[in-house]
Amino acid sequence: MKVLALPLTLAIPLALLWAGFIDSSLSADSDDICWFFPNATKIRDPLSCGQYITCIDSVAHYTACTSSTPYFDKETGKCVKTLTNYTGCEISCEENEDLFINDPSSCSGYYFCKTATTPIHGYCPSGTHFNSTTQSCIFRVDSTCELKELDICLITPNGVKIASDTNCGRYHECKKKVLSSKDCSTGQYYNPPTGTCLSKWKVACAKHPVPDNVCGTTKRPYINKFVSDGATCRGYYYCAERNVMPDPAPVWGSCPNGTFFNPTTQACANPSSTACPSGADRCEGRSLTFVSSSDKGCRQYLRCKDGKTQEELSCGNKFFNEALGACVSSPITYAFCAS
Ligand SMILES: *[C@@H]1O[C@H](CO)[C@@H](O)[C@H](O)[C@H]1NC(C)=O
Ligand SMILES: *[C@@H]1O[C@H](CO)[C@@H](O)[C@H](O)[C@H]1NC(C)=O
Ligand SMILES: *[C@@H]1O[C@H](CO)[C@@H](O)[C@H](O)[C@H]1NC(C)=O
Ligand SMILES: *[C@@H]1O[C@H](CO)[C@@H](O)[C@H](O)[C@H]1NC(C)=O
Repeated sequence: MKVLALPLTLAIPLALLWAGFIDSSLSADSDDICWFFPNATKIRDPLSCGQYITCIDSVAHYTACTSSTPYFDKETGKCVKTLTNYTGCEISCEENEDLFINDPSSCSGYYFCKTATTPIHGYCPSGTHFNSTTQSCIFRVDSTCELKELDICLITPNGVKIASDTNCGRYHECKKKVLSSKDCSTGQYYNPPTGTCLSKWKVACAKHPVPDNVCGTTKRPYINKFVSDGATCRGYYYCAERNVMPDPAPVWGSCPNGTFFNPTTQACANPSSTACPSGADRCEGRSLTFVSSSDKGCRQYLRCKDGKTQEELSCGNKFFNEALGACVSSPITYAFCAS
């Protein structure tokens, strides 16, 4: 199910966000808004100007501001008396004393103006919307309040990274309320909890993005050719001959366990003689416990478990021999790690 796409201006139907319906195909834990944010980030609650979310280990923890400082200021991370230049949360209790007023960030939220400067936040019961005319919670069917599109930059502090839910190698950032996109370097994916780009194998990416120009360009399309998927040691795309060139929908495939895809020979080959895309996991599909890493010099090796790297180790001055699974003194020059 594809519900949330994160284009340049993020549009999350608030009800869906609230219910936690964020694309779960990307990560087992991505049904929480905090999947998108680095650990310990504080963001404003998309559904309340007076509540904030602290992201701890990708789980949202909600805290409400108190009536003396009713608004959350995302830049300072503090509850404040008034917000300046903070669109989306303009409310005023002046001339509304003793009345309920709309919470501009949600249909079911409201503020009760205890005094001209003391708004107290509240929510209507589930299935109802607040109506300021009737000063009551009315059934949703009787309400004309529309779900608002969320501008992610209204809840995210400037400069805090936001994961992309469509591309593991990309993240977003708000600068002066404008969302921009950035890509990690070649061989890296963005790791939301740390807010950093790491080697691809270190990041759990459920769906590898298709590389740019995977089947070549209009001028130089690849025809009936296997190309690397740019992310894994075994994966490839087959660029077929089609009416439209280059092939707009190449089919992905994977070499059998114990072999790696070799684009030069267009075949599945012995891993010891095959390079992987930058950052890919050389433990993938292998039954060996120790395999050579791609690091220059052929002195590093990886400990594998269930086809995944567990840790990177070093032979020090020696070289790692994959066939023996041991560090040896005589130089090893596998093409993929030779300097
Ligand atoms: C995430 O942040 C919390 C609060 O700062 C901290 O206790 C926790 O250890 C952090 N988690 C990781 C994985 O670093
Ligand atoms: C608020 O916005 C106005 C005009 O856009 C600007 O002059 C002022 O410096 C801003 N204040 C703060 C605290 O950012
Ligand atoms: C609030 O209630 C009034 C009176 O019933 C109605 O005319 C108005 O459309 C309602 N407003 C919303 C936002 O539902
Ligand atoms: C390939 O290896 C993985 C784990 O290393 C295993 O789960 C899978 O069943 C293997 N597939 C085949 C076809 O042997």
